[in-house]
Amino acid sequence: MRGNSVILEVKDISKHFGGLTAVNRLSFEVQEGTVFGIIGPNGSGKTTSLNCINGLFRPDEGRIFFRGREIQGLPPHQVAKIGIGRTFQVPKIFKRISVMENLLAPVLSSPRTDQELKAKAREHLHSVGMLEMEDRLGEELSGGQQKLLELVRILMFDPQILLLDEPFAGVHPTLKTLFYKKIHELRKQGKTFILVSHDLTSVYALCQQIIVLDQGEKIAQGRPEEIKRNERVIEAYLGR
Ligand SMILES: Nc1ncnc2c1ncn2[C@@H]1O[C@H](COP(=O)(O)OP(=O)(O)OP(=O)(O)O)[C@@H](O)[C@H]1O
Ligand SMILES: [Mg+2]
Repeated sequence: MRGNSVILEVKDISKHFGGLTAVNRLSFEVQEGTVFGIIGPNGSGKTTSLNCINGLFRPDEGRIFFRGREIQGLPPHQVAKIGIGRTFQVPKIFKRISVMENLLAPVLSSPRTDQELKAKAREHLHSVGMLEMEDRLGEELSGGQQKLLELVRILMFDPQILLLDEPFAGVHPTLKTLFYKKIHELRKQGKTFILVSHDLTSVYALCQQIIVLDQGEKIAQGRPEEIKRNERVIEAYLGR
């Protein structure tokens, strides 16, 4: 793992939808090789923040730096290309094509041979216990398997940062264990994660640093043990 260095910096970003402020002057820094958690009640702006980072939304104000390079406003495919991969709250896999075809789709224009790409895809499938599923259709997978497929699909273009939106929601405990293992393995390779999740047990177990959003604002930041006993956090979750 590389030493402490900031891989992603979010600086004062805001996103409005009409009169609604979904994200309000949000700032944070993510250290390379860590798992950075974003938690907060429903509608607090977690997914919108990820959407701003990966280019689905252009923030109305503020800046985002990836390895010092300004990236806000770049389209999602370019953000992916420079090394930021992303999964979705509702997995966006292709339902009517096979698992293998799902994995090859994002690397169609790769200079590598079909054989090399398939070998890489099988390696990833094997690492999450899904090797025997390569010929299944996307729609035949369980919700948890779809989430794992989405994770290994972004690995096909070898991102430096992985943004995971609710990876554990509705996922069977056995698959969750596989997810954990995969995250640990990728961290050892130096990958960085931003993890958005309502599964606080997982967030506390996996993350080194956590921010808490409430109505678009960052109300707390710290290590898991600091967040657990933070009054404002407890109130945001239980107070309403
Ligand atoms: N495309 C959009 N158009 C209009 N409003 C939106 C849009 N996306 C999000 N919002 C609103 O912005 C606010 C933040 O939503 P967001 O999805 O970021 O919350 P979240 O923290 O991810 O919630 P959850 O935990 O339910 O996934 C909500 O009030 C939501 O209704
Ligand atoms: Mg969300």
